[in-house]
Amino acid sequence: MEHLLKLKDLSHDEILSILNLADQLKYDKKNNIPHKYLEGKTLGMIFSKSSTRTRVSFEVGMYELGGQALFLSSNDIQLGRGEPVRDTARVLSRYLDGIMIRTYEQEDVEELSRYGSIPIINGLTDFAHPCQVLADLMTIREYKNSLKGLKLCFVGDGNNMANSLIVGGIKMGMKVTVACPENYQPDSEIMAWAKENGEFLCTDSVIDAAKDADVLYTDVWASMGQEGEAEQRRKDFKDYQINDNVMAVAKADAIVLHCLPAHREEEITDKVFEEHANEIFDQAENRIHAQKAVLVKLLGDSKK
Ligand code: CP
Ligand code: NVA
Repeated sequence: MEHLLKLKDLSHDEILSILNLADQLKYDKKNNIPHKYLEGKTLGMIFSKSSTRTRVSFEVGMYELGGQALFLSSNDIQLGRGEPVRDTARVLSRYLDGIMIRTYEQEDVEELSRYGSIPIINGLTDFAHPCQVLADLMTIREYKNSLKGLKLCFVGDGNNMANSLIVGGIKMGMKVTVACPENYQPDSEIMAWAKENGEFLCTDSVIDAAKDADVLYTDVWASMGQEGEAEQRRKDFKDYQINDNVMAVAKADAIVLHCLPAHREEEITDKVFEEHANEIFDQAENRIHAQKAVLVKLLGDSKK
């Protein structure tokens, strides 16, 4: 594994190996066992969009691994003034040991990896959010002990989260369902791939999708960059909410996950959110452990 651009690029075994290392790093941290595998290494973090979890978990994660992280707002580096991605990639490769980037176009992340000579990590694009889904899979495994055969249901927009959950879920042997309005389906190539490689259903019926689910997952109706569509989306998605009616058709011990930030009473009711807050905030915590595993794999000298 050279980069983390999207989960499609990783094999089942590579994902499993990241999850196992993430569990180990979480154990080490809780037990004060030193794990400074990245001493002297620097990660550059380019952000063209806001972030709480991704920024803080990568920055603290690098520190805990003995390295350091640089926050690079795209507005404050020449990239924001039009310096090409390909030149930015070649310059930053001379200073840094790895780059995490959060931006709009998936192609920009792919281009960084083609022109740079250091590992590139996708910290969210409009197309994918692989770091989030690694933490999600880690969390599901913690609650359910394994992943294979579980039913994962995503309710809401067919966005970056939906795309990455489909790929991550199918690669790990889960059954994946997505409930969304017809005009908001996930990426068509990902859906075709999912149907060929596992059990996948995309429907406009939340109840059909959620029936007997082990894991229910939702995300905002309007993602970063779609603020202008928020009002229209509130109308289009009004029936795509995780609430008591949806919980009633899922398995009695179903867990609820949300990548956060959440909009209560939109994609999830306050009641369901608070009833499942333990899972949701364990999930948020696991960002740091899962990303530390990715960092060790990509930036570490002795490959774990
Ligand atoms: N879930 C997630 O990526 O959160 P942030 O936008 O706060 O980084
Ligand atoms: N779909 C959301 C995820 C935020 C973590 C967005 O892209 O804004």
